[in-house]
Parts: sequence; structure tokens; C-alpha cells
Amino acid sequence: MSIRYFEEEKKFVLSTDSTEYVLQMMKDRFPVHRYYGKKGGEVPEWKGRVVSNSPYYEGAKEYSPDVLSMETSFFGSGDFRATALRLCGEDGTGVTEFAYRSFRIFPGRKTPEGLPCARAGEDTETLELCFEDEVTGCRLLLLYTVFERDNAISRSLTLENHGKAPVTIEKCMPLQLDLPGHSYHMLALHGMHNYENNVERFPVHYGIQSVSSRRGSTSHQHNSFFALCGEKTTETEGEAFGFHFVYSGSFLDEVEVDPLGNTRVLVGLGSENFAYTLMPGESFDSPEALMTYSREGLGGMSRNYHRFIRHSILPKESVELPHPVVLNSWEAVYFNIDQELLLKFAEEAKDLGMDMLVMDDGWFGARNADNAGLGDWFVNKSKFPDGLKAFADGIHRRGVKFGIWIEPEMINPDSDLYRAHPEWCLSVPGREAKRSRNQLVLDMSNPAVFDYLTGCFEETFRGVSIDYFKWDFNRDLSDICSRYETTAGQKAVPFLYMKGVYRLLSWFRQHFPEAIIETCAGGGGRYDLAMMTFGFQIWTSDMISPYRRLRIQYGALLGYPAATMSCHVGKPAEATEHAFDFRFKVACAGMLGYEFDVRKLPDDCREVLRSHIASYRRFEHVMRRGDYYPLVSPFTHDYSAYYYLSEDRKEILLTVVEQEGCKKGQTKRLRVVDALPDAVYKDEKTGASYTGRELRKGLVLPLTGERETAILLELRAL
Ligand code: GLA
Repeated sequence: MSIRYFEEEKKFVLSTDSTEYVLQMMKDRFPVHRYYGKKGGEVPEWKGRVVSNSPYYEGAKEYSPDVLSMETSFFGSGDFRATALRLCGEDGTGVTEFAYRSFRIFPGRKTPEGLPCARAGEDTETLELCFEDEVTGCRLLLLYTVFERDNAISRSLTLENHGKAPVTIEKCMPLQLDLPGHSYHMLALHGMHNYENNVERFPVHYGIQSVSSRRGSTSHQHNSFFALCGEKTTETEGEAFGFHFVYSGSFLDEVEVDPLGNTRVLVGLGSENFAYTLMPGESFDSPEALMTYSREGLGGMSRNYHRFIRHSILPKESVELPHPVVLNSWEAVYFNIDQELLLKFAEEAKDLGMDMLVMDDGWFGARNADNAGLGDWFVNKSKFPDGLKAFADGIHRRGVKFGIWIEPEMINPDSDLYRAHPEWCLSVPGREAKRSRNQLVLDMSNPAVFDYLTGCFEETFRGVSIDYFKWDFNRDLSDICSRYETTAGQKAVPFLYMKGVYRLLSWFRQHFPEAIIETCAGGGGRYDLAMMTFGFQIWTSDMISPYRRLRIQYGALLGYPAATMSCHVGKPAEATEHAFDFRFKVACAGMLGYEFDVRKLPDDCREVLRSHIASYRRFEHVMRRGDYYPLVSPFTHDYSAYYYLSEDRKEILLTVVEQEGCKKGQTKRLRVVDALPDAVYKDEKTGASYTGRELRKGLVLPLTGERETAILLELRAL
């Protein structure tokens, strides 16, 4: 049992394999946070505290909500720190308050309505705390779901309006974690299109620091994953907390150091892009947020999440089955695709040992550039005169699988769909709807849009054998207004939009159960756990420079496993064996693919590519299912080092990549701490062998200081 209740103290202990989380109902009323850390760690003694200026309840001075470590917080009722919940009812004040009533512990989990969430397994158990507010008549359920094996705890909430008047949720942060002290560093991922996942690490300061997206997507700019760690925590040592939000729209992560020097963490929907009105009798489920804790450095935290995501987030097949090595048409020929050309690409792909041809943008409507056609999901007959079915059959006959690009949420003003239904776009009456990449956004909260899209796709893909969808999303949401919603409902549109997207993704999973979905948002613009519940993998970034990708991948791996990360090799400026070799070694951090005009590949490079793909097949499972150990960060050093270890610890894939300007010399000692001590590991390519003990002590490898240099050791226990 991972959740225990101690009646006398009214204490709940949530245990995972190596962590523990403790909360307590003080005075049968205040949900006080007591501890989160290693299993068996000491829960600090609780002392009431009285601080001048802090509001308190009569007869309970030492329980001031402003001073306690709380499990949640209510706006305007005496806790002046960043708040988890603000509701506005009939009195119009926004003052929010709930009193504890009861709890329930049950196996498995509660699934939030219409939202993706982690799958429950046999190790999953949930604690539900029930609160009520007599003024509004609302009931609040706080849910803690414990995933014991993988050290993850999720937080979500449900609000039910049992009152007589509407209530608006104005701020909603399902995860709150009040930590003692403020000796923490925060690590967050920032960037922009093509430059995602830059790791920034900084000491937390008094007041609020926050990371957020107001773009209607998780965004290239700020990922919703972040970590808090000790000041001295490294890749391999020290404590680290990691946080995720299982949601793909705008979000808010807040960290506040309060005047007493304690730290509050909040994860959720925030208030700027969200408000949701509950009519009497209605209820609202929040997306879930996750936390994990490790004492094995940032790497330990990442490994907790990697395992959890593999077991409980990704579709099962995506972890069990090898991912196809794809050839994607985009970087090769952009919109200039047609039947004949792509059939040729398929032949080339087969010849090089790849598994799949992905036809990217340009196959439908009048889509010859990015200014027309989005929304018209009908095959372009001048490019594909024999139709889609015959074309897909032709690809399969050439011995490879067939993937196709779609961007269902978008519309070009120059499209038949827009001409027929301009009111289906997000746009504010009387204002100009701003374009981005020449496109507007469809109102995914409108069921008529869902019906149109599913109707189109059903017709266009009927009988076509599709193995893979690349689901793109190439702009953020501005001018958000739905013609389908009432005025009162407009603030909920960004949230309802996301629910509409999830509904359509679920429809695809049901209608094409055999097909893989790779999600994409101009590259990594929606790199989040919600998307991962639907997809095999995510197109990590549109950036194809290997040096930039090295950093993008390193950042992504902080929170997400290799199985989710599409790593494509783009065409080097000079197509030499050396250049391909470097790109391949950098790409071997995730799932391999290629994006260039294969017809123009020089003959001497063909054999190199074949041998790369063959060796990738030998160790792909080590990345897909094994554990990841970061050793040297490219954000702090002029080279990067990491390794993957197979589940049985008999295979190791160790990579060192020199960054531009790397100085000649030696690496730090690269310690493979979990190698089997008594085993002898042999490098397939060089024939060199190392004992497990040597590897645990660490290898020191040469850095050449030359451009495009990387080492990839493929070690196997004899
Ligand atoms: C985005 C994707 C690319 C490609 C183009 C097509 O930029 O990230 O891979 O699919 O759209 O328009």
C-alpha cells in the first residue's frame, strides 16, 4: 500500500519506491504539508508560529494560513503568498475558502474528464481530500495519485458547484508544494523556434519567479517542465525535485520565497489565460501536475521521469516496439512534392535501409506554399493524379511504410474552408485576427469544426494504408474568441480549445489504431506529457545544425525520455562521410530519421549511411528503454557527455561530443556508475574492452579540438 492514514494524528503518508510525502490535517481543518523527500527521512517537528501582521482564525493563532506550509491555498483568506485557487461567486469578491470534510483512498486513479493523464498501473493509488465551502456551496476534491514504482506523485483537483449561483474559477494551480528553506536552484528550459530547451539555472530569490506560456501552447519559449535542486546538486549527485504539467496549452509555474524564507511551488493553469464558469450542478476537472524527487542528482530526477513516462504516459507500443527510421521529405524538397518524386524517395529509403517515407506538407488542396490550402484536406490531384490510395500502395510496394503530414488545427485565409466558414476561426468581432505563417487558428472548441475535420479525414483517408501521422501546429493562439461560446464563456476558450484538440487526437487513435502519431509544433513547440499520451514521439526541433541540436536534446532529456525525441540527420553543407558520421553520432540520443534529398547523396556516403542505420538498429532499444545518465552538460562545458544503460546493464552507449571551439585535451573522468562490476564490456567497433570496475571508476577520453568530432562507444558485456 503506498498511501497510509494515521487516525490519531490525522496524518497521511504517501510512499513511493524511494520517496515519501507527508501531510496532516491540523485541528481537523488545516491541510498542512509536513515532508517531501527521501523515504525514511526525518519529518521535521511541527511548531505553530505567530508572526505579526499574519491573519488568523479566532482561537487558532498559531495556525495562520500565511505562515503554515499548506497543501493548497485560497485567495484572499489570509495567505498572502501566491495562491493556488481563486473562485468568484455571487458576492463578487474572489475571496475563496474551503473547510476540510473527509477523505477517501482508492486503488487506481480518477481520470479527468476530456483530458489526457497518466495511466494507472497495479502500483497506483489515490488519496482524495474533500473540502466544502458553505458560502458558494462548492465542493473541492484534491487528488493525490501515487505511482509507487517510478517515484511520481500527481496532483489534480475537481470542483463541483452544488450551490445556487454560478461560480467562476479565476486561478487554478492543482500542484502546490511548500518546501522548507530557500537554498534551491531553479532549472528551467527557455528558447524560441529553432532554439528550444536552453537550460537556465539560477538561485531562487525572495518574491516570485515564474515560468509561463501565454501562447495557447506549451511553447518553444518556455517548457512547462522545471526542476528545483540543491545549490551543489550536479548531474550525478545531490537532491532534485522535478515538476511536469500534463497539458499542452498556456500554463504557469510559480516559485515564491516568502518573507520567512520558505519556498512555495505552484504548477497549473494560472489566471491570465484561464477562467471557467461553473453553473449550478456543473463540475470541473483540472489537468494533472506531477512531481518527483531524487537524491541522485539531476540525472536521478530525469531517470525517475523517463521511467514514469515510459510506463505511464507513452502509448505502450511506443516503448515496446522499435521506432521506424524515417525519411522525411520536408528539408529535402519542402512543398515541391509529387507522386513520382516521392516514389523515388521511397526506393532510395529502402535501398539505404530505412523503414518509412514520410510525406510532409504540400500534398493537399492548393498547398504549394505556406500561404494557401490549410483546411482543405483533400488530395491535390495534379500532384497525385492516381489518388492517395494508389500512391500509398505504391510506397508500400517499394518496401517501406507510409507516413503523412497534417496540421488539423489551422486554416489559411486562402482556402475553400475559410471562404465557406470564416466564423470557424478564432477571431474577435470588429478586430483584425493576426496572422502567423499566413495562417489563422480554427476554433477547436466548436463541435462543428470537429465534425468538419473528422468528415474530411474520413473521406480522404478511406482505404489508404497510413502507418504514421505527423501532427503539426505552426502558430500560437492570438485573438482568442469563439463564435460558438457565449460572452460569459470566452475566458474558458483556451482550455476548451485544448480539450477539442485532445478529442480530435483521440479520434485519430481510435480510427487509425495501427498508425503512429508523431506530434510536432514547428518542432518542439508542444513538447509536453499530454501530447506524449497520444504520440510515439515528438519532432524535437526544426533546427538541424548538429551543434544546436546537441543542446536542444540535452535540455529535452532533463524531463523527457529518449523514446519521445525524434532525432533527424539533416544534410550537411558538404556531404562527406565525416560530416554524416558526426550528425549520426549527435542524433544517437533519440529516435533516428533523415531529412534531405537522398537522390543527391554521393555514392561514397551511401555505404556510411547503411552502416549507421545497421548499428543504430543494434542499440536503439538501449535508448528507447534503457536509463539515461548525463555526465557533462554542453551548457557549462565545451563538450557534452552522457550514456545510456540497458535494462539488464549489459549494454552501454556512451557519447562524447565536442562543441564548436572545444579545446584539445581530455574529458573529465566519465564514470559509468551502474556498470556490472564483474562484467567485461567490449566495444563492437574498435574491439577495445573494459572491465565493469574500470568503467565505474571512469574513462578519460581524448578531446581533439577539431571540428565535428564525437565519440560513440557501443559497449556490450561479453
Ligand atoms: C513545421 C515542421 C516541419 C515541417 C513544416 C511544414 O515547421 O516543424 O518539420 O513539417 O512545418 O510546413
